[in-house]
Amino acid sequence: MLHDRDRIFTNLYGQHDWRLKGALARGVWDRTKDIIHKGRSWIINEVKESNLRGRGGAGFPTGLKWSFMPPDEKRDGRPHYLVVNADESEPGTCKDRDILRYDPHRLIEGCLIAGFAMGANTAYIYVRGEFYNEASHLQIAIDEAYEAGLIGRNACGSGWDFDVYLHRGAGAYICGEETALLESLEGKKGMPRLKPPFPAACGLYGCPTTINNVETIAVTPEIVKRGGAWFASLGRPNNTGTKIFCISGHVNRPCNVEEELGIPMKELIERYAGGVRGGWDNLKAVIPGGSSTPILPKSICDTVLMDFDSLREARSGLGTAGLIVMDKSTDVIEAIARLAHFYKHESCGQCTPCREGTGWMWRVLTRMVRGEAEVEEIDRLLDVANQIEGHTICALGDGAAWPVQGLIRHFRDEIEARILSAGRSKAA
Ligand SMILES: Cc1cc2nc3c(=O)[nH]c(=O)nc-3n(C[C@H](O)[C@H](O)[C@H](O)COP(=O)(O)O)c2cc1C
Ligand code: SF4
Repeated sequence: MLHDRDRIFTNLYGQHDWRLKGALARGVWDRTKDIIHKGRSWIINEVKESNLRGRGGAGFPTGLKWSFMPPDEKRDGRPHYLVVNADESEPGTCKDRDILRYDPHRLIEGCLIAGFAMGANTAYIYVRGEFYNEASHLQIAIDEAYEAGLIGRNACGSGWDFDVYLHRGAGAYICGEETALLESLEGKKGMPRLKPPFPAACGLYGCPTTINNVETIAVTPEIVKRGGAWFASLGRPNNTGTKIFCISGHVNRPCNVEEELGIPMKELIERYAGGVRGGWDNLKAVIPGGSSTPILPKSICDTVLMDFDSLREARSGLGTAGLIVMDKSTDVIEAIARLAHFYKHESCGQCTPCREGTGWMWRVLTRMVRGEAEVEEIDRLLDVANQIEGHTICALGDGAAWPVQGLIRHFRDEIEARILSAGRSKAA
């Protein structure tokens, strides 16, 4: 269990002042200039030592990602950019919004430190369009930081110039995908780019760019101030540090909570979310990491740990750490059909497997909800899901296929029973 002394997000519930005065009292903007004076490679090494993995979903090592940006001796005159992904559209996920509205200075300080570490004088924070209040808080905090000399010319008196711009999106899930986000930021339609080139070589406006999630950037000031080894001592090897978990669905007290990675799922739900509605034995399944991650039945939820590697071993994923809890009243086929509709709606349509496949899966699943399908179609559905996975420009295709694969892996008998019983009632 996470000790209070190791907590990073000390205003996660908005009980304290989110503005500059409150942030300063919580230690934000403390010793920022000293950190910058330690230099680019020192910061990157601390972040590498912390083993921080990106909090946006894929879990890519953050220090390594920053080190892909051209070092000082290899700069070619192009500006470097830091882009913060505050699009947060993954169903089941609502952590970044609480950082934006209750602790925006922690993010802005993180932008300065991360931006400096990658040689960027400019950061863009791309905020999901629907987050009106969150964007308002963030803009106020940015203005406060400029006024106090914390960002802008000679930020924090460090000698480094640093600008932060807030950009509001129009509310499309695909704009959370990092290259679609860059397109959108450039004023174009949010459609993912083919990689390579990767953003560190050719990103925003064709310049070296790193895109990181809000939570990733917001935890870095504490990492460099307390030391990478401190962060690495929390959680489990290769799954280090603290994480904000979002727990929603059939629990008694839906909540966000910061805990150590590797906490058992059962403990997380029972300790913080008041348990499953009707008790743990009333649990049917959990989607552990936002809607894209494969659903897990109760038998796995009983013992699985909440971290990247444990959930991957269970053939699911930590994703955004947004748990969607389903009790026994849930029609899992209908739940996954609803998600299939979401992915169909959000597909940008560039790749055939995603454009055609997401709609096809949704239509078949919709029939399966009513039992109006043939048992053989289950394997065909799985085959189509497998054909989408790994065959598209961006990971939205994978994210659409995984929930369907998870459903069939763990609830095939339920789909079969639905089809057979619909067939029997038709025959009667
Ligand atoms: C369809 C799609 C939507 C995504 N949405 C988000 C999002 O809302 N927020 C986010 O941080 N990352 C999102 N990602 C992941 C980003 O592409 C990227 O990996 C992430 O921002 C990198 O940050 P990190 O290294 O700090 O995790 C999405 C990816 C895909 C494929
Ligand atoms: S996978 Fe889907 S969302 Fe991603 S680029 Fe292809 S069509 Fe667009």
